[in-house]
Amino acid sequence: MGQLLLNKVQKFYGDFEVLKGVQLEVKNGEFVVFVGPSGCGKSTLLRMIAGLDATSAGDIVIDGLRVNDLPPVKRGIAMVFQSYALYPHMSVFENIAFPLRVEKMEEEKLKAKVEHAARILHLDQRLQQKPGMLSGGQRQRVAIGRAIVREPKIFLFDEPLSNLDAALRADMRIELAKLHRQLKATMIYVTHDQVEAMTMADRIVVLNAGEIAQTGAPLELYHKPANIFVAGFIGNPKMNFLSVKCVGVTSDGVTVDYKGQQVTIPVTPRETAVGKTLTLGVRPEHIQLGSGDISFTVVPTVIERLGAQTVAYAALDGEGENFCAMLPGSIGIRPEQPLAAGINRVDCHLFDENGIAFERHVELTDIDVSLLNATPAA
Ligand SMILES: Nc1ncnc2c1ncn2[C@@H]1O[C@H](COP(=O)(O)OP(=O)(O)OP(=O)(O)O)[C@@H](O)[C@H]1O
Ligand SMILES: [Mg+2]
Repeated sequence: MGQLLLNKVQKFYGDFEVLKGVQLEVKNGEFVVFVGPSGCGKSTLLRMIAGLDATSAGDIVIDGLRVNDLPPVKRGIAMVFQSYALYPHMSVFENIAFPLRVEKMEEEKLKAKVEHAARILHLDQRLQQKPGMLSGGQRQRVAIGRAIVREPKIFLFDEPLSNLDAALRADMRIELAKLHRQLKATMIYVTHDQVEAMTMADRIVVLNAGEIAQTGAPLELYHKPANIFVAGFIGNPKMNFLSVKCVGVTSDGVTVDYKGQQVTIPVTPRETAVGKTLTLGVRPEHIQLGSGDISFTVVPTVIERLGAQTVAYAALDGEGENFCAMLPGSIGIRPEQPLAAGINRVDCHLFDENGIAFERHVELTDIDVSLLNATPAA
């Protein structure tokens, strides 16, 4: 088992409240990814779960047992860091075996466990080498091997792949997903990488300034962000935001005015919105050429050709320069050449004056929200 409950977990450094009462339940076998801006408290939260940092208030409960006062080795947790933290003078075998040596495990059993972990991680041919002879990806696998032999209930990963190049990161991402399926262990993973978060997570936890901004399946956060922060954070390039005026509500949604164009956005209406300035959100991948329910002119300032797509950073209707449109790869556009473009109402997101989303009328399929990789709790 490896079930984790964080109950109103707080952390202060002096007067600075780094974590503001985090409430979260992680199921046995779940792969949960923490994302959030630099300094929002991801590493601190992981270190508190591991027992490396003390908790200022609240409870950390693992499999029903409050572990706040237990030392790290008694928590049944293994943590893998961005810096691999290997011992350079020891062989790969001894690096992986290290926690078992500390436990004074009998030699034969120790050897079997190290070899088993090495096989899973394709390190069986490297056991006698020193870390200095390995590539970054191989070193990271040694660090993961050291976590595997402890057979922890919960694995904690703090940006384990961020020192690797893009190709190796993609390979390791697949290896970690396989490892999760094979070990059926609970994994909590911190990353800055959108692709890692979207592809590996059963559930993503978005943290903002020490608080959970939203928790949900990756596509749930993409299609139904609860607030402007999550809307802007999940998705790459980032969602565009336009200021609109609410001119009415109907049973179909909220009618807004953008520079004289009125359109009803299919969201759950709130009477109180009428007359207010709201924020319309539209993702770059939903901008189409020509016209839409709302039409406008974009003047590209910078054009990035990625092959499959062309990303245009543009001024919208002559204002600002940070409007972003994701267009077809083969499109013939040039900087400073105005383009007619538009968006459809079904693709729009709408946020109130406090940045809270109106609920969108989009059906999420079972696939969008199911815990694809998770093992059901025993
Ligand atoms: N030992 C410490 N003493 C004082 N403040 C600290 C300490 N450790 C972290 N902090 C502060 O706590 C906040 C959260 O830090 P943390 O390392 O958890 O952020 P993070 O979300 O992991 O960021 P990053 O994405 O950059 O790794 C930061 O403002 C940081 O300066
Ligand atoms: Mg960190």
